[in-house]
Amino acid sequence: MDLKDTTAIVTGGARGIGRGIALELAKAGANIVVADLPAVQDDADETCKLVEAEGAQAVSVQTDIRDFAQCQAMAQAAIDKFGRIDVLVNNAGVISVAPVVAMSEEEWDRVIGVNLTGTFLCCKAVIPHMTERGAGRIINLSSQAGKKGQAAIAHYSTSKFGIIGFTQSLAQELGPSNITVNAICPGEVDTAMWRESLLPAIAGLQGITLDEAWENWTRDRVPLGRPQTAEDIGQAAVFLCQADNITGESINVTGGSEMG
Ligand SMILES: NC(=O)c1ccc[n+]([C@@H]2O[C@H](COP(=O)([O-])OP(=O)(O)OC[C@H]3O[C@@H](n4cnc5c(N)ncnc54)[C@H](O)[C@@H]3O)[C@@H](O)[C@H]2O)c1
Repeated sequence: MDLKDTTAIVTGGARGIGRGIALELAKAGANIVVADLPAVQDDADETCKLVEAEGAQAVSVQTDIRDFAQCQAMAQAAIDKFGRIDVLVNNAGVISVAPVVAMSEEEWDRVIGVNLTGTFLCCKAVIPHMTERGAGRIINLSSQAGKKGQAAIAHYSTSKFGIIGFTQSLAQELGPSNITVNAICPGEVDTAMWRESLLPAIAGLQGITLDEAWENWTRDRVPLGRPQTAEDIGQAAVFLCQADNITGESINVTGGSEMG
């Protein structure tokens, strides 16, 4: 698919990896719908400005992806503004750190609810618009934790394994409609998810600073010896949009820390 003058919805597009994906898609010519929570509206506005600086159009739509009516309103807002939906990037996600025995049922439900059910609901809202046009690209954010389980994030890892199964099933369903469905599995990208949840837990256990924990982690666990950037993930998203014959895949962007 040539991305010029297409429309891409990026959930969780206000900041972090979502912003990186929005900007790379915009550079390739797509107009962007930034779908994110009201709490990060300032960040969403900033993403829109950065997209416009790339010569594309942008609109932000406040959306809680856990609510199907809001997902439908998100899809309708994209149609109202741009007349079509070509790409859906299910990027919004949350994490927390706790061993299973100490994890509350509410926290389990919250992480599964956003990462897995939210992705399902956004797809459900957008697919009818794509099937009507007989074309589309759906990209779901999984993780290296979706390929290999990790201690203290069982809910997150379960949701990201689930994303890979969901991606394969949906790719089977939508192939006949000329819609590809793929997943991206990032490794370590320096975003709020790491700064606010993962690094405090790692640094606390080891009695070191957040920056030291980040440097140690990426140096010791990543064969390329460096973290990935939001732009790296955005470039993978652009590739998956441009690829006409790849569907049901889950591509690692991890600097080699996950190879399977
Ligand atoms: N940062 C990493 O190293 C890393 C690694 C692997 C996978 N991922 C995945 O990449 C995606 C983006 O992560 P990030 O690191 O940029 O995190 P982030 O916390 O910086 O951004 C997540 C975004 O999702 C939004 N969001 C959360 N709940 C939402 C909801 N209910 N409805 C709508 N939006 C919601 C947040 O407001 C935020 O803008 C996530 O799916 C995450 O699991 C990240």
